[in-house]
Amino acid sequence: MATELAAEIRVELSVNGEPVHAVVPVRRLLADFLRDDLGLTGTHVGCEQGVCGACTVDLDGAPVRSCIVLAVQADGASVRTVEGLARDGVLSQMQAAFKEHHALQCGFCTPGFLMTLSTVDPADYPGAEGIREALSGNLCRCTGYGGIIAAVESVWGESP
Ligand code: FES
Ligand code: FES
Repeated sequence: MATELAAEIRVELSVNGEPVHAVVPVRRLLADFLRDDLGLTGTHVGCEQGVCGACTVDLDGAPVRSCIVLAVQADGASVRTVEGLARDGVLSQMQAAFKEHHALQCGFCTPGFLMTLSTVDPADYPGAEGIREALSGNLCRCTGYGGIIAAVESVWGESP
């Protein structure tokens, strides 16, 4: 006898430090859950196939592409989005560096860059080449990357 699969599942997780309880369709993508169900529209959706990195969020300390992760896979996890970076209206150090170094133009890619950077240990990516490698999974169509690299260097203390 075939087993009937549940169409919806209850999930409990933490999002930006706040507990979230929800019933989600099993096929709901994490990006859609964050944006449409929780109203956290800072997570952007570009390619929808895991290539551009715009949808990157922090899932238990690791950067994941929320356009190819199911919401049910975040059950029991701690998720952080770009909305969770600033504290009491004060930008994180990296956000402030992006602002100072003009590391964004349209800003569509920016949340993904910031969330990738928030999960990366600079010690694993030394030097200017290391920064480029750390960011190689995030695409930007506007800046030419110069301002982004400069912003990261200013925080990580690396010179070109
Ligand atoms: Fe997820 Fe491009 S929208 S990687
Ligand atoms: Fe426009 Fe990066 S600032 S895509």
